Order: sequence, then C-alpha cells, then structure tokens
Amino acid sequence: MLTESPFTIKHLESAARSQSPRVPMTCTIKRSLPVEMWFGNYSYLMFPMLPNDTLLALLMRANYNKGLRPRRKLSITLQKYLCRQIVEALIYLHQVDKIAHGDVKPDNTMITHDYRLVLIDFGHSEKVKQLIKHRIGTPAYRGPEVPDETRDENEYYAVERAELYALGCTLFTIMFQNIPFKNEGEKDKRFTAKAFHDAYKMNLADTYQQFYQTHYTYFNQTEEVHSHDELSLVMSLLHPNPILRPRLNEVYSHPWIQSASEVPTQKIIEEMKDLIKLPSPPE
Ligand SMILES: Nc1ncnc2c1ncn2[C@@H]1O[C@H](COP(=O)(O)OP(=O)(O)OP(=O)(O)O)[C@@H](O)[C@H]1O
Ligand SMILES: [Mg+2]
Repeated sequence: MLTESPFTIKHLESAARSQSPRVPMTCTIKRSLPVEMWFGNYSYLMFPMLPNDTLLALLMRANYNKGLRPRRKLSITLQKYLCRQIVEALIYLHQVDKIAHGDVKPDNTMITHDYRLVLIDFGHSEKVKQLIKHRIGTPAYRGPEVPDETRDENEYYAVERAELYALGCTLFTIMFQNIPFKNEGEKDKRFTAKAFHDAYKMNLADTYQQFYQTHYTYFNQTEEVHSHDELSLVMSLLHPNPILRPRLNEVYSHPWIQSASEVPTQKIIEEMKDLIKLPSPPE
C-alpha cells in the first residue's frame, strides 16, 4: 500500500468479536508497508484519518468551556444540524444498507474535514430487521428491553427499535449536552433510567414535566429553549415500550429535523471550529 494520506488502523482480536480492543492506532503511512490484513491473532481495519473531534469530544469541550462556568451552549441551529446529520446517516444505513449500527452515541460519531458527521465503530452492527437476544450497545444508550450485565440474554428484542432508543439518547445529548439519565447512586433529582421507565408507564404528562424540568434545573437554566414538540420527539424515542417508539421516517419528518440545515452553512462551520478550538477537560 502506498499512500501519503493519514490512516487510522484499528486492530481486532480475531476470536472475541464482542471484546475486541477496538483502539485504533493512528499513523501516517508514507511508504510502502508490507501490510497484511492478518497477523497472527489480529486482523486490522484501515480507515481514512478524520481530522476533527468525535461529537462527544466536542460536547465535552463545550461543557468544560476552558474551566469556566457556565458551559458553552450549542446554538439551536447547530443542535438541529447535528441531529439531522445523525438521523440521515441512520436512514441510509437502515434503508439502503439494511444494517443497524448497534452502538449509536456521540463517541461513535466523528466530524469530517468538511464538518459533516459520520458514524464510526461498526463493531456492534446487525441486520436491521432482526430479533436478537444478545447484548449490543453501551449502557447509557440501551433501551430497557436490551439485556444488560444484570439480566440474562434470554429474550428476543428488535434491533431496529433498540437503535431508535439509542438515537433518542443521542439527540437528547446533543440538545442538553448531557446524557438523559443519572447513574444509580447519584444524588441529584434527575431520573435514573429505571425510575424514568417505571414513571413513564404510569403517567406520561407528569413524567414529561419532571424529566425535563430536572435537566433544566440541573444546569441552572431557567428558560426552556426547546418547544414542547421538540421535547416530545425525544421523549417518544425513549419510550420503554419498543413498539411505541416512532419510526425513523417519522423522526425525519419531524419539524425539529425538517427545519434543520441539510448542509453545514458558514455559520455552523464557524461555531464548530470555535468549539473544536476550546481545550478538552483534564482526564
Ligand atoms: N477514522 C478515524 N480517524 C480519526 N480518529 C478515529 C477514527 N476512527 C476512530 N477514531 C478515534 O478512535 C476512537 C475509538 O474508535 P472506535 O469507536 O472505532 O473504537 P472503540 O471500539 O469504541 O474503542 P474504545 O472503546 O477505546 O473507544 C474514536 O473515539 C476516535 O477518537
Ligand atoms: Mg467506539
């Protein structure tokens, strides 16, 4: 292989698919390398190197905001654009490739050189129209139907519907710059996922109010910047009952997505560049 372009190399353990290290080494290959795609127990995937942040890294820079308070809030224009990019990526993946990503989240979304979003890390992907029993995805983005570390993998669930839940968590994270639920044991008033799902099943209206109020309060934000409609789009994707979540086409037709810019406008690019220049929080 002869290339001057930077590449990312991701190595995978051949045997354990679900436990693969998936930590890419980044390097620039400037000369012909005897790259065999298989060395002993490892296989390698090579990707063009993307120069910018993951979406998570961008949100973390904004939240850290050079260590200042308050955090830097993303404009609604940027929020909508980012949401639309992810929804469009999933529509392509589900409807053209017939594949579900399996681990949709801001850390698996990268910003390209021309300020679009791409999904990376297809280590959990599955055929989209499929019922499976095994665990995929990341805890904070997993619907309640997906088995977790505490629940056996003995019931079938629909891959496509679980992906919609992860999409809901991801859209929420873009809009609120934080994941929807606190971890068990955290003391503030936000919902844990379990408490939220239990409350959701009993009383939608109250849950709705409480869920968002606690998030606004958590960030000392008094004015509500999202409309009732926008909030219910995300809320409906987080529905504990998989079959009651909206379909991807319905999400795409929603005004929050339809009124978003399809392309990165100059204003959007400037804002993203500004955020990418901010320092990351210390590890
Ligand atoms: N094409 C790429 N160009 C530049 N950086 C990349 C690229 N692909 C991945 N990365 C970086 O590597 C990180 C991990 O990549 P990936 O999501 O594919 O692996 P992973 O299995 O999730 O690994 P980990 O569990 O360590 O995050 C990404 O969060 C991103 O920072
Ligand atoms: Mg990843």
